[in-house]
Amino acid sequence: MPVNHSFLWGHLQNLGEIQRSFPATAGIGYTVTELAKPFTNGLFYIDTWPFSDPMLVVNTPTAANALQKYSSALLKPDDVNGPLNTLCAGSSMMTMPEDQWKQWRLLFNPSFSITYLTELAPTVANEVSIFCEKLRDIVKKGKRIELEPLASRLTIDVVGRISFGESMNHQRNDNPIAATVRSQAMWISFNSVVEPWTTLNPRRPFMNWYNNRLFKKYIGAVVDRRFAEVRASSISEKAKTKALLPKALEHYISNARTNGSSPDHLDPGFKSSLISNMIIFMVAGHETSSTTICMCIHSLATNPEYLARLRAEHDAVFGTDISTSHIMSMVQQEPERLNKLPYTLAVIKETLRLYPPVAGIRSGTPDVNLPDDSGKLFPTAGIKIWTVHAALHRNEKYWPEPNTFIPDRWLAKEGDRLHPIKGAWRPFEHGSRNCIGQALALIELKLVLIMIMREFDFEPAYAEDDSEVFGNKAFLAGNQGVGEVPYKGYPVRVKTANRP
Ligand code: HEM
Repeated sequence: MPVNHSFLWGHLQNLGEIQRSFPATAGIGYTVTELAKPFTNGLFYIDTWPFSDPMLVVNTPTAANALQKYSSALLKPDDVNGPLNTLCAGSSMMTMPEDQWKQWRLLFNPSFSITYLTELAPTVANEVSIFCEKLRDIVKKGKRIELEPLASRLTIDVVGRISFGESMNHQRNDNPIAATVRSQAMWISFNSVVEPWTTLNPRRPFMNWYNNRLFKKYIGAVVDRRFAEVRASSISEKAKTKALLPKALEHYISNARTNGSSPDHLDPGFKSSLISNMIIFMVAGHETSSTTICMCIHSLATNPEYLARLRAEHDAVFGTDISTSHIMSMVQQEPERLNKLPYTLAVIKETLRLYPPVAGIRSGTPDVNLPDDSGKLFPTAGIKIWTVHAALHRNEKYWPEPNTFIPDRWLAKEGDRLHPIKGAWRPFEHGSRNCIGQALALIELKLVLIMIMREFDFEPAYAEDDSEVFGNKAFLAGNQGVGEVPYKGYPVRVKTANRP
């Protein structure tokens, strides 16, 4: 147990003291990073009675690798599943028990195959080109902007493409589904201690109910329309269908035919689960990616040497014509070029190391005992298992110069002191219940960097007296949504790039 355990208050005082050394808005991961320092074998319990069950903090690849074997069988705790189910108007892949989850995961996996994602890359590039247009407008206006809201419109449109198989056009016009996702995420609450105002706000149950009605109306209408289209489509058209929603509907129709039931009507239970799953894709896929876009831009904007190397790689692979039309036509003709960008990938990985937007949480069980680095086993029955990526990714035992942005770690050969240790980097988690969208997220992030970092210069525009974490104003802040987001939406000034 950490030091300063009080019979009455568990570790709350200890936690509170460390938390007060950070800005009030800073993500909880920073507090845990500090709290974990004395526990050099990487596992320790914290007792936050009366607010929560005790927690076992995982801050070592040894235990995280052991835990991943159970990741599909172990449930998330009720106080995580409950708000997630409210958010999604029912249970989704993220909250389902293993047997149900497996059926949906198997159904959705083909939409994330490398073949389909490679085919989808030009469409994603097209969405990024709209983001570029928006940035050009901002350059003209010369205004300071918050980048995260703009980036999240892009990431919503990209998730929309893979989910519904069509553009949501949220970058150009407000899309009602996207607006409802953002609103519902603001009105759920995971923790009454961290978010008392959201939890206790009397409007919250009404807003949750109202947003769920909007989801059923708007997503329900898309489901009905796509159902009619899939039913009417020919076999060859069906073969081309690869987005999540039409693929699931096609599966439903072919199952109904095989079972001799009518494929003319959608079973209400299936429709409702489909809607909840479409919502979880939007929720899980948009803020995580927009946060990473902002933090990649920040890491490059504040490290000109790394920015120059990234730009040189893009010139070498895509040529020196930086127009979006040229890049888009190259991606169309040869999407495989996206796999020839080792430095760009290193920048993205290093950004996700320092700024992982989400953590992992599971309810322990009597048969799961996790080993720390000394081999000692920690029982988990009645305990929440909390893998804090923010702490693990900055743990000095595994990462030399843990708080410094060094993309070269990802190019270092085995034996080099910078070479990463297996299992110490897990922003998308590992195991069968890892992030289904990670390959799409990486394609999107690469396209954003290729299409914007040579055309624009970004300058962080925080105020002098804005808060800092580890000397950095662009830290990850706690959020009422699902993950963490850049502090103050990442304010920047954007200019046309001044390149030698
Ligand atoms: C940088 C971007 C992203 C990060 C860092 C990220 C991270 C993660 C992590 C850590 C998990 C595992 C959560 C757990 O089980 O505890 C997860 C699950 C998930 N992610 Fe992502 N994600 C990203 C982008 C996306 C995108 C683009 C999509 C959708 C297109 C997506 C959809 C999902 C879904 C549906 C799950 C649940 C998977 C399951 O339970 O089988 N994510 N993500």
